[in-house]
Amino acid sequence: MGDMTGQVALVTGGIRGIGRAISERLAARGVEVAAGYSHGKEAAEQFVADHPRASLHQGNIGVAEDCERVVSEVLERHGRLDILVNNAGVTLDKTVRKMTPHDWDHVIQVNLSGAFYLSRAVLQHMLDRGYGRIINISSLIGEAGNIGQANYASSKAGLFGLTMSMAKETARKGLTVNSVAPGYVSTEMVRAVPKAALDQVIAKIPVGRLGEPDEVARVVEFLADPDSGFITGQVYSVNGGQYM
Ligand SMILES: NC(=O)c1ccc[n+]([C@@H]2O[C@H](COP(=O)([O-])OP(=O)(O)OC[C@H]3O[C@@H](n4cnc5c(N)ncnc54)[C@H](OP(=O)(O)O)[C@@H]3O)[C@@H](O)[C@H]2O)c1
Repeated sequence: MGDMTGQVALVTGGIRGIGRAISERLAARGVEVAAGYSHGKEAAEQFVADHPRASLHQGNIGVAEDCERVVSEVLERHGRLDILVNNAGVTLDKTVRKMTPHDWDHVIQVNLSGAFYLSRAVLQHMLDRGYGRIINISSLIGEAGNIGQANYASSKAGLFGLTMSMAKETARKGLTVNSVAPGYVSTEMVRAVPKAALDQVIAKIPVGRLGEPDEVARVVEFLADPDSGFITGQVYSVNGGQYM
């Protein structure tokens, strides 16, 4: 494993669920974590109390100006940015027949456009330094599709296109861009699913249980490592065997 001490990571949605586990793992490697959040102020304040070198950045990643401001804040505060984890995401589930254009646009805007806005905002800095790790948190649903999740599945499948294209554009410049596609992981997003439906989901997972946030975070840590420079444009699935 390479030395990550003193590196700086921007983790969107970095104080809850999978993002929190990613922030904890990177912080344990000596990385200064800049955690993005939209609403969860209380949890955010607790996070910096626990990690004095961390910083908090409020903003809606579905808005390009917020993304640019957040990246400026991170550079001003920490002086550099080595790792971007596009983790924040939302669901707004309905079948296509019932899905409004707003339902579609909102999920695409946050999950896909947000990753584009932030990647674009960090790119020049990373190119100038000749180093960067960008990791997009996609989903099993982006690989396989799902009833009631056409907007979410499209946003997460779109992240694969963004990942591969950016990987090709930056491969000779010291940057890597990869995706991680989790299956069903025990966070608030999944706990919101009704129990009967969740039991049916678990029955279809070959390992027979939900994943834990840290089981996703350890893959992100691996891809963020300086020694992972020969891996780019890839998708790492972390799904208990649910999609092969
Ligand atoms: N849990 C799963 O089973 C699973 C499976 C596959 C993929 N994923 C993906 O993994 C990522 C994390 O999921 P999770 O389960 O940990 O979700 P979660 O617990 O619901 O947390 C979502 C995070 O995204 C942030 N966020 C939401 N909308 C935002 C916006 N417009 N601007 C900025 N931040 C925003 C939230 O911040 P606030 O709390 O401040 O609002 C929160 O920190 C998501 O991209 C999700 O699609 C999850």
